[in-house]
Amino acid sequence: MKKIEAIIRTSKFEEVYEALSQIGIPFMSTYDVKGFGLEHGSAQVYRGATYSVGFIPRTKIEIVATDDHVDDVVSTILRIANTGKVGDGKIFILDVEEVIRIRNGEVGQMAL
Ligand SMILES: Nc1ncnc2c1ncn2[C@@H]1O[C@H](COP(=O)(O)OP(=O)(O)OP(=O)(O)O)[C@@H](O)[C@H]1O
Ligand SMILES: [Mg+2]
Repeated sequence: MKKIEAIIRTSKFEEVYEALSQIGIPFMSTYDVKGFGLEHGSAQVYRGATYSVGFIPRTKIEIVATDDHVDDVVSTILRIANTGKVGDGKIFILDVEEVIRIRNGEVGQMAL
């Protein structure tokens, strides 16, 4: 199992969410995040407010999926979240050792 963490433009979240549902990924955690990419110091207007580029609101998505779903998830996020401009975000892929469903104690892929 892998955890896919994707930091994307908040404006792309709805579309990414819909597309992931369509490929059979109905579960995810989301977070509002702010952070820094490579570029610092300049300002950018986002929905009428001016932000330092380092603090453009973004959405982080976390999905734990079986290994065979990882390529599908990643290619879906890339297809939709890529505008070709700096600041499109980033995808991190981590190994997951165990998953436990709290309700009934199921473990591993059964618990996803
Ligand atoms: N190495 C990293 N570790 C943790 N978070 C990161 C990292 N790189 C980017 N992020 C997060 O992703 C957000 C968007 O990053 P961004 O897309 O600007 O990355 P970048 O490396 O500057 O690429 P680009 O050149 O396309 O802008 C950041 O604001 C930060 O929240
Ligand atoms: Mg950047």
